[in-house]
Amino acid sequence: MALQTCNLHHCLVPHLLPFVLLLLLHAWGGCCHPQCLDYKPPFEPQQPLVFCKEYIKFGCCDLEKDGEISAKFYTIMDNFDHAGYDACGRYIRSILCQECSPYSAHLFDAEDANTPMRMLPGLCGDYCSSYWLQCRYTLSLLLEDSGNPQQFANLTATIEEDRKKFCDYLELKDKQYCYPNVLTNTELNANLGLVREDPTGCLELCLQEVANGLRNPVAMIHAEDGTHRFFVAEQLGYVWVYLANGSRIDRPFLNLTHAVLTSPWAGDERGFLCIALHPRFDEVKKAYVYYSVSVKKEERIRVSEFTLLTTDDNQLDHSSERTILEVVEPASNHNGGQLLFGRDGYLYIFIGDGGRAGDPFGKFGNSQNKSTLLGKVLRLDVDNNDDGTPYSIPSDNPFLHEKEARPEIYAYGVRNMWRCSIDRGDPTTGRGGGRMFCGDVGQNKFEEVDLIVKGGNYGWRAKEGFSCYDRKLCLNSSLDDILPIFAYPHKLGKSVTGGYIYRGCQMPNLNGLYIFGDFMSGRLMSLKENVASGEWQYREICMGGDRTCRFPKLINSYYKYIISFAEDEAGELYFLATGVASAKARAGVVYKIVDPSRRAAPGKCSFKPAPVKIKGKLVHFYPKEEFVINKKPTTTPIPTTSTRKTTTTTKTPPRRKTPIIIIKPPMPTRKTIRKTTLQTTRKTPPTTALKTTSKTTIKPTTVPTTVQKAMETTPAPTTPTGYRTTIMTAAFTRSAQTPIIPTSPTRKHGRPLQYAPITTSKPLTSAQPPPSPSTTSMKRPKVALTSERPAALTTPRPQYWSLKPTTSGYKPQRPPINTTPTKTQEEGLRLGEKLENTGGANQVYKRPRGRSRGSKRGRGGRKLRAGSVRLVTTDGLSDRGRLEIFIRGEWGTVCDDLFTSKAGSVVCRQLGFTTALAVMKRAALGEADRNVRILLDDVECEGGERSLLECKRSRVGKHNCSHGEDVGVICG
Ligand SMILES: *[C@@H]1O[C@H](CO)[C@@H](O)[C@H](O)[C@H]1NC(C)=O
Ligand SMILES: *[C@@H]1O[C@H](CO)[C@@H](O)[C@H](O)[C@H]1NC(C)=O
Ligand SMILES: *[C@@H]1O[C@H](CO)[C@@H](O)[C@H](O)[C@H]1NC(C)=O
Repeated sequence: MALQTCNLHHCLVPHLLPFVLLLLLHAWGGCCHPQCLDYKPPFEPQQPLVFCKEYIKFGCCDLEKDGEISAKFYTIMDNFDHAGYDACGRYIRSILCQECSPYSAHLFDAEDANTPMRMLPGLCGDYCSSYWLQCRYTLSLLLEDSGNPQQFANLTATIEEDRKKFCDYLELKDKQYCYPNVLTNTELNANLGLVREDPTGCLELCLQEVANGLRNPVAMIHAEDGTHRFFVAEQLGYVWVYLANGSRIDRPFLNLTHAVLTSPWAGDERGFLCIALHPRFDEVKKAYVYYSVSVKKEERIRVSEFTLLTTDDNQLDHSSERTILEVVEPASNHNGGQLLFGRDGYLYIFIGDGGRAGDPFGKFGNSQNKSTLLGKVLRLDVDNNDDGTPYSIPSDNPFLHEKEARPEIYAYGVRNMWRCSIDRGDPTTGRGGGRMFCGDVGQNKFEEVDLIVKGGNYGWRAKEGFSCYDRKLCLNSSLDDILPIFAYPHKLGKSVTGGYIYRGCQMPNLNGLYIFGDFMSGRLMSLKENVASGEWQYREICMGGDRTCRFPKLINSYYKYIISFAEDEAGELYFLATGVASAKARAGVVYKIVDPSRRAAPGKCSFKPAPVKIKGKLVHFYPKEEFVINKKPTTTPIPTTSTRKTTTTTKTPPRRKTPIIIIKPPMPTRKTIRKTTLQTTRKTPPTTALKTTSKTTIKPTTVPTTVQKAMETTPAPTTPTGYRTTIMTAAFTRSAQTPIIPTSPTRKHGRPLQYAPITTSKPLTSAQPPPSPSTTSMKRPKVALTSERPAALTTPRPQYWSLKPTTSGYKPQRPPINTTPTKTQEEGLRLGEKLENTGGANQVYKRPRGRSRGSKRGRGGRKLRAGSVRLVTTDGLSDRGRLEIFIRGEWGTVCDDLFTSKAGSVVCRQLGFTTALAVMKRAALGEADRNVRILLDDVECEGGERSLLECKRSRVGKHNCSHGEDVGVICG
C-alpha cells in the first residue's frame, strides 16, 4: 500500500522561520562534519584495512594509506624496547591512525585551507596528559619528518618538558570533538556515514553547479557512447553539447528555434520539450525530439527524427528531419513532453491530456478515451521504418486488438506527465532495472508519481492522486486504475517534476533513492522503496548548511523552478532549474546532486571519457554561484560544550532549511511592496485560488491577456498584490508546468517588463546563519612555536629511548587543493581591464550629486576610463536612460540578460546617485543605433563593485543579444 501523502509531521512547514530560531539552532551540528584530509567525504574502503582497523567500515584510508601508516608506526617503534613498546605503542598507533578518522580534517584542523594544518591530530586534555606522563619524549619522533627537522627538534625540546606547553600544542579544546572523545560522541557517531538528516528528518545534500546561463533548460541527456558528453535542451529550441569536463561546444547540436512554437511568457508550456538519442547512438546516429509547432494556425506537438551529421559528431543534420508523429493540441497547455527509450528499444512518448482544466474534452475527457492519443503513453518502434512509414507498432502493444483504440497506446489515464525515467537497476543485483517512473502533474489537489506498466490506466480524470476528481467516473467499477506510488498535496507543491532513481557510483548512500522535485514550490523530495513491503517512504531533501557542504566546489542553494532531472552517462544525478521561468531568460542552471556524508572509495568510480572530435570552439564553464568553501566563515559562536546538544534526547524544535525562499533584497524603494506581495501570495490559501480556477475555465490563449490586463488595471506599484494574485490564478489554471514570474508593474509599450529583483529571486538555500560579531571560538589555537630557548634537557631520557634515526619518507601532508580558483582570483584572471578602471570609477563615485550627469558624463576634458558609464536618453531626464559603458575607447551598450538592480546600483553609484530605482529591460529606455556595439552581456553584480567590469560577465564585446535587449537604468 502506498502512502497517500507525505507524513504531515514532516511536511507541514512554515514558509519562513523566524531568524531567532535559526540562530538558536545553528549550534546543532555546528562544529564539524566528516571530512578527510583530501577535502572529500569519508568512504568505505574497498579492501579491509589491516592496521587502523577501527576505520575498516568507514573513514579516510584505503588499504594503501593504511600500509603507509603501519610502516611509519614500525619505523618509530624501532626506537623502543619492549617496555617502551608496551607503554607508548598504543598512543603512537592511535595518533597515527587519526588520519583515517572520518573526522580527520577536523582533528588536523584542515577544514579551512587558509589556516595552517596541525602536524598531529588534536587530542583531548586528559588523553594528552596521560600521553605526556607516559611517553612525552615520543613527540619528536612523531614530528620528525614533518618539515624542518631542526625547527621541530627545537620545538619538541621546548615542550616535551612542560606538560602545559605540551598539551597546549596537542590539545583540541573542544571536548566533544577531540581525540578520542570524537569516537564516542553519540551525536557525531549516531548516523555516521549515512546521509545527514536535520532534526525534522530532511536529508541534507549539497550541489555542484555544472552549467549555467541556460534559457529554461528542459532536458539533459547523454549518449551512452563512452564520451560522457551531455546534451542540454532549452525550451526555445536549442540543444547544446557539453564535454565531460564541462566545456560547451559553441555551435548547437540542434537549432530548431525557427520551427519551435513558444514565447518568452513565463508559464508558456509550449516549446522544445525533449530530446532522446537512439539507445545505440554509437551505431545508430539518430536523435528524436518533441516540440510544439504551429501548422496552419493549429497548435500541434511534433515528434521527429534527426540524423547526426557525418562530418561532425556534435551536430545533427538540420536537413534530415523526418516527422514521426504529430498530435493536434486543442489547448496550449498540457503538452506532455517526455520521450525516452525503454529497455525494449521502443520509443515511449508521453502526451498530455490536451489542456485546460479537468480534461474537459469529449464525454469523459481525452485521457480515458483510447481513440485519441492525448493523455496517453505511446510506444512505437522507430527502428523498422526505413520503408518510409515513420514507425511501426510493437506487436505486443496492449490495445492492438481493441476496437477503436489507437494501437500506439501503451498506458492511459495520464494528465500531463512531466519527466519520466527508467531505473538502471541496483548496480550489484540489477534489482529494479527497467522500471519506468513518471511524475504526473495534478489538477487541484494532488501531484503524483507513477510507475508505468503496460496497459495501465492511471486514473485521470476519474482520479487525481488517490482521490476522486470526477466522482461519477471514479465510482465506475470498470475504472480499474493503477494508483500512484506517491502523491502529495498542493501545500507542498503544485507541479511535480519527475526524477530518477539514483544508481550512480559516487554517492553510495543514495543508491535506490528516487529523487524528484516540484516546479512551483522548489521542493526536492525523495522516495525509498521498502523492498519487503513495496511501500515507498517519503523523505524531503534539503540543502545542507554551510558546514555540511563545506567541500571544494560545492554550493547549498538553488533556483527554485525545478524544470527537470537528469542522469549522466555514469549515472550521477542532476537537476535543471531556473530563477526566471521564461524561455528567454538565461537564468537556468544544471546542478549535480552531491552527498557530503559519504563518497565511494577512491578509484572506484573513475572512468576515462572516450575522446570526442570537436569542430568549432569550446566555451569553458565558470561557476557563478559562490562556493560554500569560499563564503566568509560564519562566526556564530559555538556554545560552550555544556550547552551543546549532546544526546538525542534533547528536544530540538524542528529546524527548517529548505524551503526557505530567500529573495535577494529588492530595490530599495520597493522593499515593503515586495514583501507584501510575497506574504500575500504565500498566505493565500491555495484552495481559494484553485477553487476559482477550477470553475473558471480560462482559455489558455487568454492567459497572457489576463496577466496583461491585470497589470493595466492595477495602479502599480502600490497594489501589487492584486495583480500578483491574478497571475497566480491564471497560472494555476494552466497548472501543469506553469512557471509564475511575478512581473513588474512597470509597463512600457503595453507589455510587462521583467523586473530586475525578480530575476534573482534567489532560490532556496540553506538556512543562513545570521551574522554575528566574529569570535575566535571556531579557530583552533594555532601552533605556538615558542622561540623561548628551553632549559637544557635535564630530565633523563627514559630507558626505552634509543636515538636511532628513522628513514621513513612518510609525511602527513596537506594535499594540494584541487579546486577552481576562488572567485576573486578567477575574476582577476578574467578581467583584463579591471585594474585600469578603478581610479575613474572612484572619482565618479565621489562626485557630488547635483552636477551634470547622464549623457554629459565624460565630457569637459575628463579622461574617460574603462568602465565609465553614462545614461543616454532623449527626453532630457538625467537620472535615467539607456546604459552605455566606455571600454577600450568606445561607448557601447549593455545587454539586459541577468542584469539586476544590483548591477543597476553599481551604475547609479558611479554616476553619483545613491541607488537604482529600476532596471529597465528590453530597451524600454531606448535602443541604440546599429553602429553602437554591444559591449557587455550577462552582467551579474554583487552590488559592491565599483564598475560593471568588476562584475561577473561575458567577455567584452562577446554577447548573445540584440539592441532590442539594451538595458536601461533609472537612478535615484
Ligand atoms: C634551534 O635551536 C638552535 C640552537 O639554539 C638555533 O641556533 C636554531 O636557530 C633553532 N632553529 C630554529 C629553526 O628555531
Ligand atoms: C575539455 O576537454 C576538451 C577536449 O578534450 C579540451 O579541448 C578543453 O580544453 C577541456 N576544457 C577544460 C576546461 O579543461
Ligand atoms: C539558430 O537558427 C536561427 C534561425 O534559424 C538563427 O537566426 C540563429 O542565428 C541560429 N542560432 C545559432 C546559435 O546558430
